[in-house]
Amino acid sequence: MDEAQFNKPASAYSKDASRRGSRDKIFYPSLLKLIPSFTGKSVLDLACGDGSFSRVISKLNPSKVVAVDISKDQIDKAIELSGHQTVIKYINANACDIKHIDPFDIIIGNFFLHYAPSIDDLKKYCKHISLNLKPGGLFIGLNENPVKPIKDSKSFGVAVECVDGVVHDSCTIRRTHYDSEGNELFNFTHRHFHLNTYELSLRESGMYNVTWHKLRNMQHGDADDAMAKHWASYISQSTVSILSANKSLDDK
Ligand SMILES: C[S@@+](CC[C@H](N)C(=O)[O-])C[C@H]1O[C@@H](n2cnc3c(N)ncnc32)[C@H](O)[C@@H]1O
Repeated sequence: MDEAQFNKPASAYSKDASRRGSRDKIFYPSLLKLIPSFTGKSVLDLACGDGSFSRVISKLNPSKVVAVDISKDQIDKAIELSGHQTVIKYINANACDIKHIDPFDIIIGNFFLHYAPSIDDLKKYCKHISLNLKPGGLFIGLNENPVKPIKDSKSFGVAVECVDGVVHDSCTIRRTHYDSEGNELFNFTHRHFHLNTYELSLRESGMYNVTWHKLRNMQHGDADDAMAKHWASYISQSTVSILSANKSLDDK
């Protein structure tokens, strides 16, 4: 995977994510519903990007948040957007290169695992997650949906296509983001892995309770509410789901 591909669009990615609203309206509320509490918990945010979810967590009384991204521009953006706070420690590194300090209660991996360049790397990513979790600890993250990896329209400002033509385990997926007039903003590539490949990689790493969760429409209002309909339609076309697993209790 091209490690530098997130340097160039760091600001554009951050702005576009805020403009489209899917992070705040769908992704983060869906995730937060699945995590019982951050209070007093140590949290590792892998592939933190501009740190938007780290900042959400930092307001929920964690004991500490360590946020890691391979892109220097993303980490610079995260530090700029975070201002003067002391809870989050940002590290510019490959997530798999950070040294094992103390195991964490929770590891977040939002759009992380599908950047593994190969199935062997996916296994390494999962091993690294397991190594850095306390027994029983939770791994959870937004992820490509392995049963719906592509969508053939650019509705909602993103087109998702298979670069290799045919979808197969470890094929390359390109996500292209567009502005509200349909002009391309930027694109980036990642891998698609079969559902079984994710599940096996996590289990072989000492994780159990591997579960896929659907995005949820948390918008209030009745069925006629235009925004609720907008987000219901977004979810029905989305290529994103949520993956969670726990570290085995008897695994050291
Ligand atoms: C689509 S962005 C998601 C960022 C953030 N998690 C979010 O949800 O907005 C993917 C991020 O993964 C980072 N990344 C990809 N592979 C990585 C790795 N091996 N270690 C650390 N960061 C990685 C990229 O630099 C990029 O910032």
